Amino acid sequence: MRVLSGIQPSGQLHLGNYFGSIKPNLEYVGKADESFFFIADLHALTSVRDPKELRQMRFETVLDYLACGFDPKKATIYAQSMIPEHTELMWILSCIAPMGLLERAVSYKEKVEKGIDATVGLFNYPVLMAADILLYDANIVPVGRDQKQHVEIARDLAQKFNHFYGGGTLVVPEPEVRPEVAVVPGTDGQKMSKSYGNIIPLFGSEQEIKKAIMGIVTDSLTANAPKNPDKCTVYQIHKLFLSEKESNKLADLYREGMAYGEAKKKLFETSMDVFEPMRKKRAELEKKKDYILKVLQEGAAKACSVAESTMERVRKAVGLR
Ligand code: ADP
Ligand code: TRP
Repeated sequence: MRVLSGIQPSGQLHLGNYFGSIKPNLEYVGKADESFFFIADLHALTSVRDPKELRQMRFETVLDYLACGFDPKKATIYAQSMIPEHTELMWILSCIAPMGLLERAVSYKEKVEKGIDATVGLFNYPVLMAADILLYDANIVPVGRDQKQHVEIARDLAQKFNHFYGGGTLVVPEPEVRPEVAVVPGTDGQKMSKSYGNIIPLFGSEQEIKKAIMGIVTDSLTANAPKNPDKCTVYQIHKLFLSEKESNKLADLYREGMAYGEAKKKLFETSMDVFEPMRKKRAELEKKKDYILKVLQEGAAKACSVAESTMERVRKAVGLR
């Protein structure tokens, strides 16, 4: 089984990214025969126009992954732009991708509504993502719920390709969404997202993290009143750190009337404890730019040999050889 996933280098890492993307990705590394993870820097061009910012964010994202426990000996990490076959396959797939299929992509509409320029690149975003996946014959693609539709588009395109050009040419991938952490709520209760300004950062300063957690919106029940943990954002976030047994115990404290201030303090302490080793590791890695570059280059070399062999198959299938 081969697992593949991509992460957009889009700024400060938050708990939603960690629990919804990085942690499940890392768990897959242990289970898969082979895993590929890449920084989707070409996708980032749909919204980032500052070259310095893109370079910096790309570096920071590799740091984030390595600090969170990603082991380059066990899996392959690279930047999408290091492998030109991504864009080549994107073009071939875009020639079989029906407009209607892409017009139904909700993420495009949502991004345009948020103010991102409605470019051809943004419209083609799912086709590039399909190329990212199909190029590596990936069987499983772990993603957050918001990306499930994109993986389904990749499935559609693989099936279309196989239909037009002969069966079995491209592997049809499966999305893998972890339901229990499908959407991590932000400090205001809606989906945690950088663009909503409601994040709890992983690698922010202690002060920053404390401020975010203490600012989580709750209802106005008095300190001793029994509380419903299922309706409380503090609990919904806290339970991501806990086993089922531990979260049941914590839920009881809410029902017994723990004050929200106390609940937030507990969440802050847990969050600092859990992420402390990663924070330390990140600070060390930040000083080792050469090492980071080497990890990316070695990853790209491995990725390239797989991408090149798939592309040869595709070129032959479509008649470019
Ligand atoms: P943001 O919404 O902050 O811009 P991204 O879109 O860059 O986050 O998300 C990067 C990855 O993290 C994606 O795989 C996405 O599915 C996952 N992710 C982001 N926010 C959440 C969330 N609140 N809950 C679960 N997963 C999330
Ligand atoms: N679009 C994904 C996101 O925003 C990132 C991504 C790009 C990706 N290519 C991919 C994820 C291929 C999985 C597989 O999170």
